[in-house]
Amino acid sequence: MATERTLSIIKPDATERNITGKIIAMLEEGGLRVVAQKRVRWSREQAEKFYEVHKDRPFYNDLVTFMTSGPIVLQVLEGEDAVARNREIMGATNPAEAGPGTIRAEFGENIERNSVHGSDSPENAQKEIALCFDESEIVG
Ligand code: PPS
Repeated sequence: MATERTLSIIKPDATERNITGKIIAMLEEGGLRVVAQKRVRWSREQAEKFYEVHKDRPFYNDLVTFMTSGPIVLQVLEGEDAVARNREIMGATNPAEAGPGTIRAEFGENIERNSVHGSDSPENAQKEIALCFDESEIVG
């Protein structure tokens, strides 16, 4: 197993409910380390760029609107197989299908307001991290 990094986002539905600490505790208890973190509010342009891969999907506009509706917390997480591990800790995209004990089962409200994002592959993790952080902001 390799030490890896992944990008995590705590979404507006979670910052609104003031549960960022509870989510971070679940990530840490799951074996991941926060090596960079910042709270931001994305412009529409930033959200559109981040989710460009989904631009032809029917939910794209709603997703961009939601992700710009309030503050988000961007994080770089580090650990053994961090991309896959983070996706296990998050649970399925649709909270109704997320396994017990996962972040989305615990806190997600629906497929849009599902509390967290995590990169879906090591290649995308590298791209997403580069989009959100300067190398100097990541302290391992
Ligand atoms: S996945 O895990 O990437 O395969 O999930 P996917 O179904 O492709 O969804 C990608 C992101 O789009 C969000 N999503 C939606 N937002 C609003 N409305 C609808 N109907 C909807 N369906 C999916 C979903 O929360 C995923 O967000 P991220 O930030 O990538 O987790």
